[in-house]
Amino acid sequence: MMRVLVVGGGAREHAVVRALHRDGVELYVVMKNRNPGIQRLCREVLIHTETDVDAVVQWAVDRVDMAFIGPEAPLEKGLADLLLQRGIEVVGPTRAAARIETSKAYMRELMESHRIPGRIAHAHCTNLEEVKNFLEVQGEQVVVKPIGLTGGKGARVYGEHLLSRDDILEYSRDIFENGMGGGELVIEEKLEGEEFTLQCFCDGKNIATMPLVQDHKRAYEGDTGPNTGGMGSYSMRDHRLPFITDQEHQRAVEIVQRTVTALAEEGNPYKGILYGQFMLTRDGPRVIEFNARFGDPEAMNVLSIMDSRFSDVCKAIVEGSLDSHRPSFRRLATVCKYVVPQGYGVKSMVDVEVGVDEKAIEQEGAMLFYASVNEREGRIFTTSSRTLAVVGMSQELGPAEEACEAALSHVNGEVFMRHDIGKQAAIQKKISHMKEVRKNG
Ligand code: AMP
Ligand code: GLY
Repeated sequence: MMRVLVVGGGAREHAVVRALHRDGVELYVVMKNRNPGIQRLCREVLIHTETDVDAVVQWAVDRVDMAFIGPEAPLEKGLADLLLQRGIEVVGPTRAAARIETSKAYMRELMESHRIPGRIAHAHCTNLEEVKNFLEVQGEQVVVKPIGLTGGKGARVYGEHLLSRDDILEYSRDIFENGMGGGELVIEEKLEGEEFTLQCFCDGKNIATMPLVQDHKRAYEGDTGPNTGGMGSYSMRDHRLPFITDQEHQRAVEIVQRTVTALAEEGNPYKGILYGQFMLTRDGPRVIEFNARFGDPEAMNVLSIMDSRFSDVCKAIVEGSLDSHRPSFRRLATVCKYVVPQGYGVKSMVDVEVGVDEKAIEQEGAMLFYASVNEREGRIFTTSSRTLAVVGMSQELGPAEEACEAALSHVNGEVFMRHDIGKQAAIQKKISHMKEVRKNG
């Protein structure tokens, strides 16, 4: 029997654990909160900080043959490297390869030096003079990001979070002086278009693509409010999105493949899930960022409709045989919505009870994934992060969204969710926006 360590305790890892459990894998999980969905599917869990990599390795070494690392923070600490040294195969990149996510400066430099398409104007700055120089050339239509990890909350966009040149300089100064995300920044041209996610399995050389997904980062309906880790996402039966052409999709695939090739050429072959966040502009897809892991919520969209055995895909990733083990996905649309604590995005209500009728959710034909919660005596309590996610799926997007909503009616407490995600009106808005962007070319 295959024995696998999964690191992480969010809804993304619940989806990973469920997919591996379905294949009969014996599971061992390290997570900082006791995720009840994961707990039930595991042989053993260790409740511990996921970035304490020495403790994770020590616990895992006599228990498993393979590891799947969910979040980025342990990757940055070199967890994959340590596990590999101890003879454990890993789905997840080494510290050096994970820099594709953990250093936005490295990512941009790699794309430049290998002439990978999808590049944008940017500068890596370590002081205010360099920021000012970039503004001289580019004007104020920019985005400022700390180069390191900030939990998805570091990017500030001109016109939204930054309203003047002074705002840009003040935020930059803040990064330099307070050491946020490494104390250095990348300033980039601001792109116009629709964002989409392309996730790929990578075996160091080959990639295998997953269905496209669109996430919704803003906390409130109509894409307003603060940026979050992601409030929900959808995917379509044809594994495309309604505003993208086949040619544009192919272009995005080519960008990911060339990035994987570049990493191998740099001596950092990438084994794991590579997540490309793209902006579809009038000039085609441009790279916003890469993540060295599954997206959360996007993992739930794709793993819920995966046809192939996920454990076989993991084996192909570590063996380097993805070219002959192409995973397949069912032709279904999916809608995933997150339930989050009241105040999430600003100041979450922590430790409030959430009522979840698991049976009723199952009867609606939807799937439930627990995220950052604590279970005490069979009752579920919020933390400051996202609480749980529900996925509806069907032949078409409409019924998938309805199934998701029906399931959400069986969750209650001081929580909220975005009802607009996956609804026809919201999709139409995205199609019209893209039409507008193309016209202004
Ligand atoms: P990131 O932390 O790089 O994922 O950025 C977070 C969010 O900021 C993205 O999902 C976009 O909505 C926005 N963003 C980041 N970079 C750009 C850019 N160059 N142009 C426009 N929007 C951006
Ligand atoms: N859904 C965005 C992320 O996982 O970073």
